[in-house]
Amino acid sequence: MLINTQEKTKQNYTVLSATQKQNYQQDGYLVLPNFFNDDSCEMLINHTRLLVEYWDDSDVKTIFSTTKQSHEKEIYFLDSGDKIRFFFEAGALNEDGSLKKNKLYSLNKIGHALHDLDPIFYCFSRQHKIAALCKDLNIIDPLLIQSMYIYKQPYIGGEVNAHQDSTFLFVKDQPVTGFWIALQDATINNGCLWAIPGGHQTPLKKRLLRSKENHITYEVYDDTPWPLEKMQPIEVPRGSLVVLHGLLPHMSKENLSPISRHAYTLHVMAKHSEYAKDNWLQRSPDHPFRGFLG
Ligand code: FE2
Repeated sequence: MLINTQEKTKQNYTVLSATQKQNYQQDGYLVLPNFFNDDSCEMLINHTRLLVEYWDDSDVKTIFSTTKQSHEKEIYFLDSGDKIRFFFEAGALNEDGSLKKNKLYSLNKIGHALHDLDPIFYCFSRQHKIAALCKDLNIIDPLLIQSMYIYKQPYIGGEVNAHQDSTFLFVKDQPVTGFWIALQDATINNGCLWAIPGGHQTPLKKRLLRSKENHITYEVYDDTPWPLEKMQPIEVPRGSLVVLHGLLPHMSKENLSPISRHAYTLHVMAKHSEYAKDNWLQRSPDHPFRGFLG
């Protein structure tokens, strides 16, 4: 009887009000403050610190050290769709391949399958409230397709140019949806998100294509620049979740402040939609995209 009651509660569980749904449709993004508590954020930060501590960075330092190995760098990125890989900030390494700072303060991000391969991220990413959020957003039978831990470390955290996520994760029918989770306060000073309200009505401007030979190139449909003057800052306290429509133009500026801005991002798609076979992120057959129930 208890199980039935819980199941019933879960089925009726909603996270978005009618107004929030309306705002999301209108703006293409939605801020949900206090979606996660401080302990959850701290847990991910501490766990990731351990992942980095125990990670042997020697091979990756070699890959990132010289421009001669740019294809090697490309392959390291292209093969990361079903792995946990670490990416340095541009400018984190000296010419001899040594790091200018401790490796923890040199990283740009970790990606792109934390949500499937790491037990802590697996559980965090599959919380029922995230599944309920997908339901409220009409993402039927959601699949989790990408995760990233993004650092934006003090003084070195680089700019992310204005883009639409569908450029990188193109899904036919229903565009990909991003969940951007602030693990620390995100402010104008430390590189918060910026977005153009309503910009998700803009058709896709370009796609990043992966060739059969494993090279990546952009296919451009519209090369007019984004109206950056329309970008609005999305300053959020830690624990906030920002929903991002796949066609929403957004960006973040560099972090020149002494305060870090860690975030965790997840991208989801509806199972019935078709994930493009020429997207850069591909999974090997033994690591298919999975949903909330594993
Ligand atoms: Fe993005």
